Amino acid sequence: MYSSSTRPAVIFIFALSLIFSTGISLISSINTCSEAFFTMASNRSITQCKKLPTLGAEFGWNYYHHDERRIEIFLGVKLHSEMGWLAWGANPLEVPQMVGTRAIIGIKLPNGSLTIGTYNITAESKLGCRLQPSKIEVIVRNKTIDYVEANHYFTIYAKLTLLSVYNISRLNHVWQVGYHAEEMEPKMHPSHLQSVDSTETINLKTSESQSIGKHRRRLRMVRS
Ligand SMILES: *[C@@H]1O[C@H](CO)[C@@H](O)[C@H](O)[C@H]1NC(C)=O
Ligand SMILES: *[C@@H]1O[C@H](CO)[C@@H](O)[C@H](O)[C@H]1NC(C)=O
Ligand SMILES: *[C@@H]1O[C@H](CO)[C@@H](O)[C@H](O)[C@H]1NC(C)=O
Ligand SMILES: *[C@@H]1O[C@H](CO)[C@@H](O)[C@H](O)[C@H]1NC(C)=O
Ligand SMILES: *[C@@H]1O[C@H](CO)[C@@H](O)[C@H](O)[C@H]1NC(C)=O
Repeated sequence: MYSSSTRPAVIFIFALSLIFSTGISLISSINTCSEAFFTMASNRSITQCKKLPTLGAEFGWNYYHHDERRIEIFLGVKLHSEMGWLAWGANPLEVPQMVGTRAIIGIKLPNGSLTIGTYNITAESKLGCRLQPSKIEVIVRNKTIDYVEANHYFTIYAKLTLLSVYNISRLNHVWQVGYHAEEMEPKMHPSHLQSVDSTETINLKTSESQSIGKHRRRLRMVRS
């Protein structure tokens, strides 16, 4: 009598805890960005998002099982200054770094005009030469820049078709924020430590990422 009445209860509690734990892990893997960013991302039918480790930036994306070269990206940051730029790019080289990155950069000018373009970040541009819009090998469609006055969110969005050299299971991506621009030319501010760190290798399928920023910073300190 005793065992026949407790067993269903035990099974029920076990089932309940199973539902609970899967429910919780589902939420944490889908919605690990701020609510404001998640709302804006959802408005673009972006389903994945996460907070990036630097610059207060948040990243959203979609990928497709049937075509892993096709992705959508959405990057956002709170920007309180009247001028600024926001960049996101992917690097086909083995390491996540700025040089070699094929980037999309959105610029907000003091007169309120918003522009967005593609940029090939070369060793020269990293060293401070003029960074002008250029063709990149990644196919970019529907690139959009938005500034929401109400919450100061600055976002860029694009649909990309990557070449086969990129692998969305270990995509080297780079992001950057700046506060000065001239027309379509974003100006680099003196590279502080965070500029070095704003790269990681992300698995767009699992949301996992690896950052080598700390390691590189240690190397720099040893060298200097
Ligand atoms: C959602 O997106 C549309 C256009 O894509 C825009 O007009 C609208 O303001 C957006 N809504 C929010 C809450 O961001
Ligand atoms: C972008 O720059 C790289 C060198 O970093 C160069 O090999 C490549 O051809 C450039 N791409 C385009 C489309 O100009
Ligand atoms: C995306 O861009 C294509 C052309 O490249 C256009 O036909 C389509 O309407 C755009 N979609 C949206 C949602 O803006
Ligand atoms: C992409 O990377 C993953 C993980 O390293 C690997 O298993 C997979 O084979 C790679 N895909 C291609 C097309 O190279
Ligand atoms: C804002 O300034 C830029 C660069 O000087 C110019 O190209 C653009 O037309 C201006 N936009 C407006 C709305 O005045």
